[in-house]
Amino acid sequence: EKGGYDWFMRKEIFEQPKAVADTLLGRYTAAGALQLDELHIGEDELRRIDKIIIVACGSAYYAGLVAKYAIEHWTRVACEVEIASEFRYRDPIIDGSTLVVTISQSGETADTLMAIRHAREQGAKVIAICNTNGATIPRESDAVLYTHAGPEIGVASTKGFLTQVAACYLLGLYLAQVRGTMYDDEIAKVMEELAATPPLIQQVLDSLDAIRELAARLVDTESVLFLGRHVGYPVALEGALKLKEIAYLHAEGFPAGELKHGPIALVDQGVPVFVVVPPQGRDQLHDKVISNIQEVRARGAFTVVVAEAGDPEVGAYADVLFSLPKVSTLLQPLLAAVPLQMFACEVATLKGYDVDQPRNLAKSVTVE
Ligand code: M6R
Repeated sequence: EKGGYDWFMRKEIFEQPKAVADTLLGRYTAAGALQLDELHIGEDELRRIDKIIIVACGSAYYAGLVAKYAIEHWTRVACEVEIASEFRYRDPIIDGSTLVVTISQSGETADTLMAIRHAREQGAKVIAICNTNGATIPRESDAVLYTHAGPEIGVASTKGFLTQVAACYLLGLYLAQVRGTMYDDEIAKVMEELAATPPLIQQVLDSLDAIRELAARLVDTESVLFLGRHVGYPVALEGALKLKEIAYLHAEGFPAGELKHGPIALVDQGVPVFVVVPPQGRDQLHDKVISNIQEVRARGAFTVVVAEAGDPEVGAYADVLFSLPKVSTLLQPLLAAVPLQMFACEVATLKGYDVDQPRNLAKSVTVE
């Protein structure tokens, strides 16, 4: 059932173009307007929302962190993202105008379930983004937007994560449409770009030949750092989590701008540092991240750079470079996460570990 692959995880990494396409399918019109009738939450109700809180665990939480950038930018509604197991223990401020969005691949994660129960008791509306039909979390939510990734067997989430980001984007655009915070043509333009990502994910998959060699080179390393900025920051966190989970390798993700506030002290001769570089654009993010690469390199780091193809500034500072097709900043996580997933899969394979069933972990965590 692994379809010729050695691991479900690898198979699921390769299924991502289809998983994202299937998640978008039927949810927008030919004119690029969002159609999420399945939500069953009235438009008036969505207009009354004055705060969004995303609650989730693990990779789903990182998908939520990515979504925050897009949702706030598109809807101008304040959006918090919180680890589900922390949420109800801090007396969060919730009322009838709070929209809680929960993200869960399995739909059975106990921490997440407890968080939404708490949110509903306080009067919040809960929308679940979930990959498992009829699971407990969607059943206990007011509405559900399913990701259509198909079954995810590998304990390390891959297509689950990518489809969660895609579904959050659909929800963000839908809210912007209902609340009138974007013009129809702006929504259509983003939707068109989002709908065009599956073949680009495929292009990334087709360009990963160098990953195995990189994994062989770094297999005995003790620690790996991941840096990113803006939506690249949660991608860095996700890359680090994959390595911890399946390769049992110490890995940390940081916002690149935090380097000089502490983490750069970890950088020494030969320490591998992965850097997700934002697309070249009008803002200064790109140039700032380039400076961060120079800073770590000057201290001896071995730099693995994930950047837009044709970016003229990265080549000089990258020991290894992975190029991504050009997309706008908000959509880059759908591409940038892929080499990081594959890297973890290769390192774990080389170490001889069971990639699909890593030690101490369960696919769905049904106890708090
Ligand atoms: O099923 P869920 O999406 O609720 O699971 C949440 C986390 O347990 C999950 O994402 C976990 O972090 C994965 N093993 C990450 O690869």
